[in-house]
Amino acid sequence: MALPAINPTTTQAWKLLKKHFEDIKNIHMKDLFASDSNRANTNSIIWEDFYVDYSKNRLTSETMEYLLQLAEEVKLKDAMAGYFSGDVINETEGREVLHTALRAPKSAKIIVDGEDVMPEIYRVKQDIETFTNNVVSGELKGYTGKSFTDVVNIGIGGSDLGPAMVVESLQYYKNHLTTHFVSNVDGDHVNEVIKELDPETTLFVVVSKTFTTQETLSNANTLRTWFLEHANQEAVASHFVAVSTNIEKVKEFGINEANIFPMWNWVGGRFSLWSAVGLTISLAVGYKNFESLLEGAHQMDEHFKTTDFKNNIPVVLALISVWYNNFFKAESEAVIGYSQYLTQFATYLQQGIMESNGKSVDRNGDKVDYQTGTLIWGEPGTNSQHAFFQLIHQGTKLIPADFIGFAESLHGNKDHQDKLMSNFLAQTEALLNGKTKAQVLQEMESQKLSDVEKQKLLPFKVFEGNKPTNTIFIKKLTPASLGKLIAMYEHKIFVQGVIWNIFSYDQWGVELGKQLANKILKEFDGAENYEHDSSTLNLLNYYKKQRQ
Ligand code: F6P
Repeated sequence: MALPAINPTTTQAWKLLKKHFEDIKNIHMKDLFASDSNRANTNSIIWEDFYVDYSKNRLTSETMEYLLQLAEEVKLKDAMAGYFSGDVINETEGREVLHTALRAPKSAKIIVDGEDVMPEIYRVKQDIETFTNNVVSGELKGYTGKSFTDVVNIGIGGSDLGPAMVVESLQYYKNHLTTHFVSNVDGDHVNEVIKELDPETTLFVVVSKTFTTQETLSNANTLRTWFLEHANQEAVASHFVAVSTNIEKVKEFGINEANIFPMWNWVGGRFSLWSAVGLTISLAVGYKNFESLLEGAHQMDEHFKTTDFKNNIPVVLALISVWYNNFFKAESEAVIGYSQYLTQFATYLQQGIMESNGKSVDRNGDKVDYQTGTLIWGEPGTNSQHAFFQLIHQGTKLIPADFIGFAESLHGNKDHQDKLMSNFLAQTEALLNGKTKAQVLQEMESQKLSDVEKQKLLPFKVFEGNKPTNTIFIKKLTPASLGKLIAMYEHKIFVQGVIWNIFSYDQWGVELGKQLANKILKEFDGAENYEHDSSTLNLLNYYKKQRQ
């Protein structure tokens, strides 16, 4: 069944929200807390090892009531049923969206084109496990009989960001293998990585769903050429493996069929880390941890699928985000992980969120007249506090933020952890309350400032507060909790796409740039009479002169 195609602005709930927004847009969250001593409890969800507090948001019980009504009116329940059961909800590409099947139990039955996909998923999982164990144990050897020490993941977009982010996030769980990620077509990237490699002990994992991506094929070619400077052609078979749907193209590249881990068209690139695209994750942290990651994601799938909307973490987070995006007109959202391990998390989410929901045509093919996908950005705390937090606290823009923290530190360093957590809690409190004139004056009193100095400094030291945050407090960073966290955002993306009545699973917008780049590449060595605007033409000619 196709997804329902309902313009959200025509719903009763949207009209109620519009009116309600006018009533509460200037309310300070401080007053909401003051008038309801139970606010933090009624506006939080405790589920397994997740404690999600959304009370520090500019909303009331009435707001939540209307937002939940909106979810009902756009028929979110029906859309979810189609999402999980393999309906062709990626209509413009004619595909199912089944990354959830990759982490479903063996006993599940998920039919695509009349065939249950679960046996094939588990067959590939078995291959990932066997291959991982052989590499990690050192049993599998390179062309000179040495065990592998390094793994190079060659891919871009979903074939890079997911594996790179997870390997970074689970660094604590890593084994002895050193992992490298080559993605950019900029040759400086691959050459810097080459400097660190020994051809005798390096395994190359070429990951590309389509196996037509310029960046990945260029990098794979460069690495193979470098490898062949040291080894002969037969050695390629024991050092290069691939993950792709395009078996023919992989074989053309020169990788043996036996070294190809398949994936499927019903898995979107940016949601593919759960498939063999996650092979580098499995190699880096071991298959058992990879499996735990998948199990965690599956638990979040079940939570999402079976919990009423009011207590459903992805649904609630998606609705709150719609509230800011469409009513407060907030342009962006920040994601701040209070863990150095989450350094690449926001970058990863950028593809997931912005490639999915950066659309301006609705599911009827009409141009939307409301805002869709938000901008996503972020860096870990506490570093980000010393970089861009000033703008969140005192700038002119409203930036709702997710704060993600882990109660237990992995290295068990109490001193550092207490300091980290004190900052984690302090920032959302500061963003909520701000600092009033009276508080600033009192502070200055104790600093013994003159009256003139006090009056001069007062306006700059006042913080308005009323800046919204969600706190996602997780017991500990484990493969399973990371799996839950990623799946939580995946479902948030889905819910928002349903509400905004857009297709979240295609990405036509990235095609034009690729096509033009291919055209321009040919023109670098061709005749000079090209069809370009004068700016591009000047720049092109400038480059041609400089490169000679
Ligand atoms: O940027 C567009 C895109 O198609 C992404 O959606 C995808 O993750 C990436 O390119 C890489 O594609 P592939 O895995 O086919 O090389």
